[in-house]
Amino acid sequence: MDGHDVILSIKNLKKTFPKDDGAMVAIENFNLDVKNGDFVCILGPSGCGKTTLLRMVAGLEPLTSGSMKVKGEDIEGPGSDRGMVFQEFGLFPWRNVKKNVEFGLELKGIPSEKRAEISQKYVELVGLKGFERSYPKELSGGMKQRVGIARALANDPAVLLMDEPFGALDAQTRNQMQMELLRIWKETKKTVLFVTHSVDEAVFLADRIVVMTSRPGTVKNLWNIDLPRPRDRASSEFIALRKNILDELEVQKTGA
Ligand SMILES: Nc1ncnc2c1ncn2[C@@H]1O[C@H](COP(=O)(O)OP(=O)(O)O)[C@@H](O)[C@H]1O
Ligand SMILES: [Mg+2]
Repeated sequence: MDGHDVILSIKNLKKTFPKDDGAMVAIENFNLDVKNGDFVCILGPSGCGKTTLLRMVAGLEPLTSGSMKVKGEDIEGPGSDRGMVFQEFGLFPWRNVKKNVEFGLELKGIPSEKRAEISQKYVELVGLKGFERSYPKELSGGMKQRVGIARALANDPAVLLMDEPFGALDAQTRNQMQMELLRIWKETKKTVLFVTHSVDEAVFLADRIVVMTSRPGTVKNLWNIDLPRPRDRASSEFIALRKNILDELEVQKTGA
């Protein structure tokens, strides 16, 4: 891999949490290079450290040792080069769609006219034109997550971090949102780091899948997914890949 193409570089990462009788190792010996524009899915069993990993990349949680760099710079806290989309949407209920999307822009002190221009662009990109004045409680789950995506994109981050963003959605809405996300990814050319525990979702979305071990989480295997998009879940290639990755996860669950 050409060094200039690497936008996110994680080396020898370790994360421990304090515990009564010492320390609990959540993540250990984790290495990953993510190329600019890549769609990477992080897949692993519950409790393996996926959320912790994403929070560290977001700068919301300090690392214990090792290094994490975005565009060659150590991650030392939150920054507008990384945008986070949460599973439970994390919208402000007292703000309408437009005001939710403009939140990060307000923090940056961008004047209201410019904010309106930017928020309108992203509201339209995620398919919410006409809902600018709606409040979260008036929106469906899928629409709420569209707001979450628009809000993260409004800061124009280099890396979009998504923590099981479609986990709270029904199956049909989830599939629809996966296609929408791929469209948005293509249009914006963002790098995406997407956490899921659904093998199906990972195979549908990713250029690369990082399979993590159970705790302490480390990289168990990397899969390159070369299937052309849009991917056909009923194709034999898709089914075979899904089965192989599922087997890999099952093996570690049973310890076989
Ligand atoms: N703030 C915290 N304090 C103590 N332990 C934590 C904290 N956050 C996560 N953990 C522990 O770290 C491990 C990994 O958690 P998490 O990253 O949420 O896993 P995942 O998202 O893969 O389900 C779990 O055992 C969890 O209980
Ligand atoms: Mg999690």
